[in-house]
Amino acid sequence: MSKGDIVARPLRFGIKKDSPKHWNDNCPIKTHIFNAIAILAPAFERLAISSVLPYKHKIPPGALRDQVLGFIGQESAHGSEFMRYNLILKSQGYDTKRLEKSNLKNFKWVAKKLSAKMHLSLTLAAEHLTAIISDLVLRDRQWLQNAALPHCALWRWHAIEEIEHKAVVFDLYESIQGGYFVRILGMWFITGMLGGLLVRNFFHLIYKDKLLFKISFWIRCVVVCWGKAGFVRKLILPYLQYYLPRFHPWDQDNYGLIAQWKLFFASSSFEDMVQKLERDILTN
Ligand SMILES: [Fe+2]
Ligand SMILES: [Fe+2]
Repeated sequence: MSKGDIVARPLRFGIKKDSPKHWNDNCPIKTHIFNAIAILAPAFERLAISSVLPYKHKIPPGALRDQVLGFIGQESAHGSEFMRYNLILKSQGYDTKRLEKSNLKNFKWVAKKLSAKMHLSLTLAAEHLTAIISDLVLRDRQWLQNAALPHCALWRWHAIEEIEHKAVVFDLYESIQGGYFVRILGMWFITGMLGGLLVRNFFHLIYKDKLLFKISFWIRCVVVCWGKAGFVRKLILPYLQYYLPRFHPWDQDNYGLIAQWKLFFASSSFEDMVQKLERDILTN
């Protein structure tokens, strides 16, 4: 069961056209890992919302129904803010419009071809991926250290809400008697699809930065992604947990990472939330 209420907080982060291109620690790799995710986000958030819509009115009134509505609210707020984020990237010379359009087309095609249950299973799997990335970003401060403050705030907000709603779609899937085989098939599919699209986005970004053929860049890239505390390496174990037959998203109980934020959000204005998110003073 999910923990607590899921509340949409449609914040605005004031990322400006003149923000530094390599806003994350002046490092193109750390910057473009996040940018590649941002380019994928609006189309993906739509895929996620459309997967739960067929069930929205079938869920009996109660906690799960409220949480599904909260999930829809949060994902649509994320989608809108990432569209704004991608417009800034476009103004800085990256072709985000074309990439977003092709993501949308791919996801629409996929959603049309699949059964409602399989579509839900893709969202379920992708929610696990976003939850483990969010855990890493909040837990290991190196990933947003020395980053531009508005970007920090946006990524923390997103990470907090992704952890907050990480079990909602899983609980919905269980309530419709979704089984292990379709759940795992969904993970294989989404790993291939999102992995491929993220790599494509990343290549586009570094191509535009004229880094594609720089050997020193690729050596650094291997270290940042696969080194001892590497971004991809740190995700492998939590990723594999999804394949356990009795897996539930809250088996990894990281509620402590967001508990104080939730308390603070409950009594704060949107403006105060953004200011605190920029400075990250509440994460344990
Ligand atoms: Fe999201
Ligand atoms: Fe999500």
